[in-house]
Amino acid sequence: MLLEKIKLNLMEKLTGHNKIKTVVFISGTGSNLKNLIKFSKIKKTPISIDLVISSAPLAKGLKYADQFKIKKKIFNFKNFKETEKNILILLNKEKIRFICLAGFMKILSKEFIKKFDKKIINIHPSLLPKYKGLNTHERAIKNKDKFAGCSVHYVTAKLDSGKVIMQKKIKITTKDTSISLAKKVLKQEYKLYPAAIIKIFN
Ligand code: GAR
Repeated sequence: MLLEKIKLNLMEKLTGHNKIKTVVFISGTGSNLKNLIKFSKIKKTPISIDLVISSAPLAKGLKYADQFKIKKKIFNFKNFKETEKNILILLNKEKIRFICLAGFMKILSKEFIKKFDKKIINIHPSLLPKYKGLNTHERAIKNKDKFAGCSVHYVTAKLDSGKVIMQKKIKITTKDTSISLAKKVLKQEYKLYPAAIIKIFN
């Protein structure tokens, strides 16, 4: 009995079969990807990361797919409709059930999002609904905000506007620059993204 359980645990660990098959979309550094991969290896995780999709061939984050032996695919998004169609074919083939955007700098179409309704989430470096889009930290500092932070939210057709799942707030000090703030927020992102995924599936 015990042996069976150990075997099963080992199989599940090796194959990730009891977990929700997940793809991570990236465009750049991929530090959130790396963090999510690590999270996908711990016991209490609900997800397995089976695929990495990048919109940029030189995205640094692609190295984590190699390092952790995860399938990776680059799409250039030149023909957006065609690209999304091909991504959907691939996700179907790989039996992907859940999509995490992590520093993915393309805006997915309404049609694509519909196919994965409530199954696409994103991490954004601001306290949404404040500062959708780019340069969030510059804008927070310029506006002399007292707080910054990050949000994990469902992806809808409207940029950075889907329901917020979880947020983390941090203080902005008078010494903060957009660079120091980005670093501080990123540290919090590493805690928030896994916590939000656990919240969704628990
Ligand atoms: C992260 O700060 C993430 O929140 C942000 O890009 C960075 C990616 O870093 N995402 C967005 O701005 C999306 N609107 P990473 O590539 O090291 O994970």
